Amino acid sequence: MHTSDLDSRRMIQDFLSNVYGDPFDDVLRRAEAHRESHGTACGLFPAGPHVMRLAATVARACRARRMLDLGTGIGYSALWLASAVDGATVEAIDRFAEHVTIGKEVVEAAGLSGRISFIHGEVADVLNDLHGPYDLIHDDAWFAWEPPYLERVVQLLSPGGVLTIPNWFLLEDAIVGEPRKDWAEFAGPKWAEGVIAYARRLGTHPHFYVTWSIEPPLAVAVKREPS
Ligand SMILES: C[S@@+](CC[C@H](N)C(=O)[O-])C[C@H]1O[C@@H](n2cnc3c(N)ncnc32)[C@H](O)[C@@H]1O
Repeated sequence: MHTSDLDSRRMIQDFLSNVYGDPFDDVLRRAEAHRESHGTACGLFPAGPHVMRLAATVARACRARRMLDLGTGIGYSALWLASAVDGATVEAIDRFAEHVTIGKEVVEAAGLSGRISFIHGEVADVLNDLHGPYDLIHDDAWFAWEPPYLERVVQLLSPGGVLTIPNWFLLEDAIVGEPRKDWAEFAGPKWAEGVIAYARRLGTHPHFYVTWSIEPPLAVAVKREPS
């Protein structure tokens, strides 16, 4: 990517941040501070306000009442989703007990503990014990390779329900071939092949109608109604 492209994105993001701000900026900062102290396995990288505002807009547009947040960290994404729709509930899953403990404290402080509940565990295991339908599933646990729980997500979504997936800056990095970081550290040397294969899989999935926003980076997949 040319430096000028990056600069113009930052300028637009700064402008939009000034326009609408981030109601959960304190949680974002706490997540970043937590990552520094937790160690390399932590993997807590909040998508940030521009991605979450787009996901929350989708939630709001489809009036999602019951949502799942996969890879919630300390609850930043769950707060955005729950606050998008009056009375909506969010079940928020993370593999680290530390994240869940802090998350409970964070949503209590935000006055949303009645609508956001946490489940500690691996997404693939937890999903097997849940009962749908969900109106929206936000998958922030995904990174590069098709997740083993994709078909379970399809089962749990209501017809017309939506799967939102951040981290799709990886598609740009894989296609352009100029990754902004060495993603091999997180997803192995063939990460770009994994990203492109997953994009093809989603884009041709018989149960989804899919599009990608590249800036802010988010995939939006709507479960087709039965014909
Ligand atoms: C990219 S961060 C997402 C942060 C969060 N959504 C937010 O807005 O701050 C990924 C999070 O997902 C969790 N995670 C990653 N893979 C997971 C899995 N397979 N099962 C459960 N949690 C997972 C990590 O512990 C981490 O907290």
